[in-house]
Amino acid sequence: MAYETILVEIEEGIATITLNRPEVLNALNSQVFNELGEAAAQLTADQSVRAVIITGGEKVFAAGADIKQMASATAVEVSSSVRPSMIAFNRIENMPKPVIAAIAGYALGGGCELTLTADVRIAAENAQLGFPEIKLGILPGGGGTQRLPRLIGPGKAKELIFSGDFIPAEEALRIGLVNKVVPAGQLLAEARKMAGKFAARGAVAVQMAKSCINEGLQMDLDRGLQYEHKCFSLLFATEDQKEGMQAFVEKRKPNFKGK
Ligand code: CAA
Repeated sequence: MAYETILVEIEEGIATITLNRPEVLNALNSQVFNELGEAAAQLTADQSVRAVIITGGEKVFAAGADIKQMASATAVEVSSSVRPSMIAFNRIENMPKPVIAAIAGYALGGGCELTLTADVRIAAENAQLGFPEIKLGILPGGGGTQRLPRLIGPGKAKELIFSGDFIPAEEALRIGLVNKVVPAGQLLAEARKMAGKFAARGAVAVQMAKSCINEGLQMDLDRGLQYEHKCFSLLFATEDQKEGMQAFVEKRKPNFKGK
């Protein structure tokens, strides 16, 4: 599929989605959201893709939703136009394969919210993350008030959202907003290395582990534990489970097939 505002490349089972509106610091307009949603559906259906990286490249991740597109919108227009962003973000979050956000430079507002839909966030040392919506008289409307407190706790989430302050990569690491900080020039290599590690594991087990964590976060503990138990039991119906355990017994590396 041809996209105009993003690039999608697939290499050795790892797909990389690169936001591609450099002239506006990768601001996310409705076309970007539509294309992200399409790409997420395409990569979900592509069985050869075992891990996904989302990045803005080595200079900037994304400076938020496109303010110029939103500036004169009415409440009625916004209530219908946010659907593409919700569809895209939900599809990315629920993709049955690991998703890594590789963040360089600014990841602000909707850009930072996009990173929250990934499973893991890797930041370059030059990354700046934040939710400046409050300074525009709005609030994070791309899931930030919901996903951020679930990730870093309500206290820190409120501080970030009420102040609109940007925080550097090291501070984001300290509060658990990102998993890892790496030198800027190594960002994409590190993301590919981690994606490669995930991709080498049993794909069904990774998919179910992701589902257990994502779905479990919506459930009380008892239901979550029951759901985990069902997924755990189901994995014993896969060839990968037989192969993984046989390989351990034979002291060799497993050769997972994703079935
Ligand atoms: N929307 C539209 N255009 C944007 C943009 C955005 N979010 N962020 C940057 N741009 C544009 C600028 O208008 C500028 O374009 P022109 O050259 O045509 O003027 C270009 O990108 C470069 O930006 P700057 O000249 O401002 O670059 P800078 O290095 O001086 O500053 C910045 C960088 C601090 C990130 C600054 O651009 C900025 O504050 N951007 C807005 C950040 C923001 O408020 N994001 C939240 C958006 S609201 C949102 O995301 C809602 C939601 O929850 C979904």
